[in-house]
Amino acid sequence: MLILVTGGAGYIGSHTCVELLLAGHDVVVVDDFSNSSPEALRRVERLAGRPVHLHQLDILDAARLETVFAGRSFDAVIHFAGLKAVGESVAQPLRYFRTNLGTTLNLLEAMARHGVQRLVFSSSSTVYGNPTRVPLTEDMPLSAVNPYGRTKLMIEDILRDFCAANADWQVALLRYFNPVGAHASGLMGEDPRGIPNNLMPFITKVAVGRLEALSVFGTDYPTPDGTAIRDYIHVVDVARGHVAAVQGLASLRGARAVNLGTGRGHSVREVISAMERVLGRPLPTRNAPRRAGDATASWADPSLARQLWGWTATHTLDDMCRDALRWQTAHPDGYDTRPA
Ligand code: UD1
Repeated sequence: MLILVTGGAGYIGSHTCVELLLAGHDVVVVDDFSNSSPEALRRVERLAGRPVHLHQLDILDAARLETVFAGRSFDAVIHFAGLKAVGESVAQPLRYFRTNLGTTLNLLEAMARHGVQRLVFSSSSTVYGNPTRVPLTEDMPLSAVNPYGRTKLMIEDILRDFCAANADWQVALLRYFNPVGAHASGLMGEDPRGIPNNLMPFITKVAVGRLEALSVFGTDYPTPDGTAIRDYIHVVDVARGHVAAVQGLASLRGARAVNLGTGRGHSVREVISAMERVLGRPLPTRNAPRRAGDATASWADPSLARQLWGWTATHTLDDMCRDALRWQTAHPDGYDTRPA
């Protein structure tokens, strides 16, 4: 298949491009590099041994997006591009609505004009709001707890409405749990700008001595060790989930939400212990108050993805830590790291 990948240079996008190419598909990437590096795409090509076709542009520019579709006939689109920092979305909600909704609307209009009717959308487990029950199944109630989450939920709603009106469309809404880790080669990984907000990139920066200590946000949760529980999933498993989804679109009808998780929850302390095992020494941590808006526990029931596409996550928490650490050690400054 010929697949258009928006945000293909980003963390999940780049890992997905490798898996798509390895599965024999051709890939065209649209990215403006506003939160990613062109180097990621060079690594994709190196790992897959095949080229990626790049259009560097902002999807908010509908006229330029049109040039991507002109003269090509895509079989499907995977839409990763978007802003994703919760705190930033609270401070700058309009920017989040403009970017995440505007890009999606432009993309859908371009697809409709060119008769491309298959889409995989990057949604998030954040659409379950603060879960009242775990594991989470796709039919559970949805809500937004911040503007970032609201953009994901609004886009899901837009796609459901759009598919209701256009019976020929086939759309997978992939709800990621907590993607972490890096490519096993050590050549690709997460490269957040500034101080990371998320747990795993923060821990790896502490592990390589770039940050002093990890703050454990909340030690009084009603969980076995008092820290919050999440479903951490290796980014390569997430990437392979996209390959399975895009190959399975032909047998979907309308917009279908599907969880991508392992089905296992791990506490913050368990993640720290796993990283310490891989590192072979203790990590400096300090107890800190709960972070506003954090849920006690969230993990997936991943059975729908298995049922539909035969997909399941295969990497363990130790794999995730080992690969994240390998990437961070080789690239303390992310893709800007100069070769040693
Ligand atoms: C966060 C977002 C979520 C988003 C997801 C992916 C919030 C409230 N939620 O999910 O909407 O979809 O990232 O980008 O930001 N933790 C620490 N110390 C740290 C960092 C995190 O103890 O320095 C804890 C958190 O309290 C949480 C767990 O580690 O219990 C995981 O945190 P994180 O990696 O930020 O993911 P989520 O909060 O699940």
